[in-house]
Amino acid sequence: MPRLRPSLFWRARREISPMAAKLLPACRDLESAANELRWIREYVRDTKSPIPDELRVWQLAEKRGRGIPLQYVLGTQPFGDIEIKCRPGVLIPRPETEAYTLHLASLLSQSSPPPTSLSILDLCTGTGCIPLLLLHSLLIPLRAPTPIFLHGVDISPAAIRLARANLTHNTPALNRFPHASSSSCPYNLTFSQFDIFSPSLITHLQHFLNPQIHTPTPTGTGTGTQDQNTEPPTKIPDLLVSNPPYISPRDFNSATARAVRNHEPRLALVPQQQEGLSPIHRYRHDRYNCRPEDVFYARILEIASVLKPKRVLVEVGGWEQALRVVRLVLENSTAATSRNNDGGHKSQEEYNLVEVWRDEPSAGDKGERVEVAGREVVVQGEGRGRAVYLSRV
Ligand SMILES: C[S@@+](CC[C@H](N)C(=O)[O-])C[C@H]1O[C@@H](n2cnc3c(N)ncnc32)[C@H](O)[C@@H]1O
Repeated sequence: MPRLRPSLFWRARREISPMAAKLLPACRDLESAANELRWIREYVRDTKSPIPDELRVWQLAEKRGRGIPLQYVLGTQPFGDIEIKCRPGVLIPRPETEAYTLHLASLLSQSSPPPTSLSILDLCTGTGCIPLLLLHSLLIPLRAPTPIFLHGVDISPAAIRLARANLTHNTPALNRFPHASSSSCPYNLTFSQFDIFSPSLITHLQHFLNPQIHTPTPTGTGTGTQDQNTEPPTKIPDLLVSNPPYISPRDFNSATARAVRNHEPRLALVPQQQEGLSPIHRYRHDRYNCRPEDVFYARILEIASVLKPKRVLVEVGGWEQALRVVRLVLENSTAATSRNNDGGHKSQEEYNLVEVWRDEPSAGDKGERVEVAGREVVVQGEGRGRAVYLSRV
């Protein structure tokens, strides 16, 4: 990163304020420093403290100038039309995640026939931003009293505490929709702490989907080697979504922004490989033979092959990873078999739609196609490769 010229600090002091000069090491240019100073001032104006306002602005600018992300300094990040609380130790939600979450909500709300209820699972939920924004965005267009059941899991206790705090924080906004707060049509968003590699995860998710059938299992971070219940559940989720850790240790050290490396949790970004935390070597070497940074996708696809969600969306870190995930899907999907009219059997692809979504998927189908493992895959939207979307619908 090039060093800043001293003249820029003088200009910041003279043209904006000495506080803007404090922000420059993190903001890098005058316009961003002026914007961030305005947001800090607004935050100080809107929140109560016994400390005098100007001193608070100075303290916060000083923190930010040391490179601490603004979201941790101010404690929140706008995400769609909701506000997500942010705390050190839990990943800050990104705009690309917001873009595909909104696009997913519009797909779900437009499905025909309209859903009579919706169940959504979010693996690696972090702040809970994805299920919260889905819920908020679905309550508007659905209008009709469609019950929505959402469940998020994360291995990090700090993330689960924050996700629950985010639900409380956004409940007034969610209950502004009359049918949302009515007892005849409740939504239900819950979070639990779970290692997604835990053998009891699938039973836990099945219980969430069919509370009357399965007995609850204690939450935890078990590390056995076999899923206990591989029976398909009677009720299938409408959506399985996940933004898992997907950066290789090498890219984390060489290609990740310093602010992210220094201040955001490595657990959220790089698949952890310590023995005893989760048996990920099994997935990587024995079964799917995938790269260390792709290991969560192998596990998510395995979970999907049991729960059979109607739609799956996983976030990826670029075009190359998107293609590797599509290949993983196509090469490992267990082809279902159905009966022909003449009594014979025909094989069916597990997913009848496999797409790569770019950063802004709502820009739509621009005619871009890519061939992976002999199948033509539709590429939606504009920007970098950001997600892989699978649908049985
Ligand atoms: C990239 S962050 C995504 C957070 C959030 N969904 C978002 O989009 O901002 C990945 C999350 O996965 C969680 N995580 C890491 N390993 C996990 C595991 N084995 N099981 C469940 N969650 C895990 C981390 O704690 C982190 O919150």
